[in-house]
Amino acid sequence: MGTIAYIKNFIKDRQVASITPTSRHTIERICRHINFEKDVRIIEFGPADGVFTKIILERLTPTSEIIALETNTDFAASLSQHHDKRLTVVNRSAEDVMEIASSRNWHRADYILSGIPFSFLKKELKHKILQDSAQLLGDKGFFLAYQNSLHLKPHLNAYFPNVQTEIEYLNIPPMCIFKAGK
Ligand SMILES: C[S@@+](CC[C@H](N)C(=O)[O-])C[C@H]1O[C@@H](n2cnc3c(N)ncnc32)[C@H](O)[C@@H]1O
Repeated sequence: MGTIAYIKNFIKDRQVASITPTSRHTIERICRHINFEKDVRIIEFGPADGVFTKIILERLTPTSEIIALETNTDFAASLSQHHDKRLTVVNRSAEDVMEIASSRNWHRADYILSGIPFSFLKKELKHKILQDSAQLLGDKGFFLAYQNSLHLKPHLNAYFPNVQTEIEYLNIPPMCIFKAGK
């Protein structure tokens, strides 16, 4: 899958929100914030067909794990074909993260990586996802989000005392990257 799959899914499903995958420059920039030297638990919101997920899996330790939550059925099915025992793909929304994490006995995550279009979400839903994420990340984890606008920043500030913002121009359109933690 690639840009064509994004365009097809974007036409059918507005929540896809993008007609191109995130650029390699953006992915590399976000990866700099992940410690690949130790075992980590990552939750990914909106992996699509795994443009980011597959690169992360190449770098993770053999006993690290990723749970990827993707609402688009075609994308979730496509990523499920990527067999890797460290990856669990769930065709459900980020709003169910708490239930999904605890059903797998995850009471903490080291990173939540999010590409979902927060600006499309209703205020209550946005806040539920951020509140549950902050709880799962505890004092040591980081919420890493990439968005096409700065819309998310004040909402992140409500749950995370430290929010760093970067802009990656080598992305169509330019990408805002947030690293939020306690
Ligand atoms: C902008 S695309 C990003 C895709 C990919 N991670 C990338 O970097 O190119 C957003 C993705 O989030 C998914 N999505 C939207 N809302 C979601 C939600 N509430 N929970 C999980 N996935 C969601 C969409 O189906 C889409 O695959």
